[in-house]
Amino acid sequence: MSTPPEKAVPAADYLIAPSILSADFACLGEEVRNVIASGADWIHFDVMDNHYVPNLTIGPLVCEALRPHTEAVIDVHLMVKPVDRIIPDFAKAGANVITFHPEASEHIDRTLSLIRDNGCQAGLVFNPATPLDYLDHVMERLDIVLLMSVNPGFGGQSFIAEALNKLRAARARIDAYAERTGRRIRLEIDGGVKGANIAEIARAGADTFVAGSAVFGAASDSDPHRYDSVIASLRTQLATVKA
Ligand code: DX5
Ligand code: ZN
Repeated sequence: MSTPPEKAVPAADYLIAPSILSADFACLGEEVRNVIASGADWIHFDVMDNHYVPNLTIGPLVCEALRPHTEAVIDVHLMVKPVDRIIPDFAKAGANVITFHPEASEHIDRTLSLIRDNGCQAGLVFNPATPLDYLDHVMERLDIVLLMSVNPGFGGQSFIAEALNKLRAARARIDAYAERTGRRIRLEIDGGVKGANIAEIARAGADTFVAGSAVFGAASDSDPHRYDSVIASLRTQLATVKA
């Protein structure tokens, strides 16, 4: 069986979305302002409930508190079960994109509609072992597909190489859909993304890159809350990917 051809997305369309899971929680507003001023595109906001995943993080109150600190897209990744009850709260708190795991919803189509009805872009998140089949009947309702390249719950884990094959498969589906409908769906990757692998990940088809520890663990020498050099080096790597 032949693998689908690798089609790179134009570099200008690549988005870097630092996960504030690895930021300094004692000064999150400043971290958000600084990471965007350092050149990041989106803020990735990881919501964990100590039930769907074995960790507990931040909710709509923190999203609302951060909203005045940036005009950048707040990309809320829900690792919670159930999901529906909390979606309107995040929309009111200023989220722009809301993604959830299909295993965490009893009615995936309904949850996707709920996100859009609340004025946000909607997406599904696929754990490393979750098949892409969940995409089959809901492409119309999706604005973004997020592939996990680690098992969700913690920052700082290593990239699972099999995610590259899954990216190629997801890219083929998304491109076929775009050809049919003219509608673009983003393909985001989350977990273990860093300078050493971001170009390979882009070549496999990702256009939106979550990076937590790689960004917030690499503050500039001169300023512990600036991330210009690490974000610039991620972009330099992405620029090597041929369009
Ligand atoms: C994991 C989270 C990720 C994580 C990424 O459950 O969804 O967003 O923070 O962190 P790094 O980039 O350190 O793997
Ligand atoms: Zn995430």
